[in-house]
Amino acid sequence: VGIAKFTQKMPLPPVLTPYLNTGTTSYYRMTLKEATKEIVPGIRTPLRTFNGSFPGPVIKAESGRRVVIKQTNSLAVPTSIHLHGAHVPQDSDGAPMDLIAAGGGTKTYTYPNTQPHANLWFHDHAHHMESENVYRGLTGTYILTDDIERRLRLPSGQYDVPIALRDARFLENGELIYQMGDFMKRNVIMANGKAWPYFEVAARKYRFRLTNTSNQRFFDLHLADNSELVQIGTDGGLLPAPHRTETVLISPGERADVVIDFSRYPVGTVIELRNKEIPPYEPADAVSKVIQFRVTRTAADHSVVPDRLRTLPALGPASVNREFDMKMDEQPGGTGAYINGKTYDMDRIDTEIAYGATEIWTVTNSNKLAPHNFHMHLVQFRVLERNGKPVTSGPETGLKDTVPLKPGETVKVQATFDGYRGTYVYHCHLFDHGAMGMMANMRIS
Ligand code: C2O
Ligand code: CU
Repeated sequence: VGIAKFTQKMPLPPVLTPYLNTGTTSYYRMTLKEATKEIVPGIRTPLRTFNGSFPGPVIKAESGRRVVIKQTNSLAVPTSIHLHGAHVPQDSDGAPMDLIAAGGGTKTYTYPNTQPHANLWFHDHAHHMESENVYRGLTGTYILTDDIERRLRLPSGQYDVPIALRDARFLENGELIYQMGDFMKRNVIMANGKAWPYFEVAARKYRFRLTNTSNQRFFDLHLADNSELVQIGTDGGLLPAPHRTETVLISPGERADVVIDFSRYPVGTVIELRNKEIPPYEPADAVSKVIQFRVTRTAADHSVVPDRLRTLPALGPASVNREFDMKMDEQPGGTGAYINGKTYDMDRIDTEIAYGATEIWTVTNSNKLAPHNFHMHLVQFRVLERNGKPVTSGPETGLKDTVPLKPGETVKVQATFDGYRGTYVYHCHLFDHGAMGMMANMRIS
């Protein structure tokens, strides 16, 4: 469909206010419900939402201060809310079968926030349902901050902007079409719930906290003039040092924290944020466009991006090595997604881990065509190697919870499993793949 590009303003998702703050804890309530929103100009799209917002609201949390959220599910489908990237006890992890019943069920999630600052996000994780539930709108942003981050004078306030990127496929009447495996046809790109929006900026530095909430789409982002993007953070917070680059790759589930300095452009400049990850079957004109920035004014800028952002904990020695093979044999009807040759079974423990252990996992995408990525619950990990080469610079030197795996790629990651005992999943974060069974259970005990 011919959707006009850059005619709608990119909105900012609402920041949710706690209904109660005590000395230790902030309490929130959210309701999952149906709502309609104007994503494509002039048309209303029915969605599954948190609180009627699309994308869902922003929670602002602080390390060392607990967040408790009571979720009420008024949808006609069961849900399970997972806080992606968070270090949480099993009963608040939003596991695939830990469901909130449809039609009014409730569940209270407790997030201890015992980890450092990070750009987290929450989304549905109900077994076999998550892919469609997320596609229809069940995502939100959770920004965890701490003194390490606050001490720096990074762009803040109105110059610190969360952006959820994704794609979708629409019927002419505005309804979303969801079919597992039809990812080749999801050619409408959205930012913060609008198709190809524009965003007005001042000629100064901005911090954009990007989350790829797509079902399957990878974004390789760049500015139309290929000028510098300064990536300052990834999934688990700030990088040790800023990474100056022309492109930022984010696969589904990953976050990138990026500073763009618009002071190099005169007022009146229009500059597009584009995507160059374009599979051959896609209409390049549509999926290469993402957001149009319009430099409309000047503004004072006292923010700085220092050369050192944070110090990461030293990597201790690992005692266990494991191999994981990610394989998706695309069959008509979307059957057959595996980890280590097995498809997900919620009653099966695939990996036993000793509490406190540090392990190295080697994860291979053994497909020739399909991209995957790898996400673990509970932990932030470190990427030691990609395709046999040590990772010594760039965005993968930070704390990660999700890593992309192009066809044939291998990564070695290291994690320490402590804090909580219990059963958690690891999986491909291309939602269709996870929902098809590219997921497994680990038990820490
Ligand atoms: Cu963002 Cu198991 O998921
Ligand atoms: Cu996959």
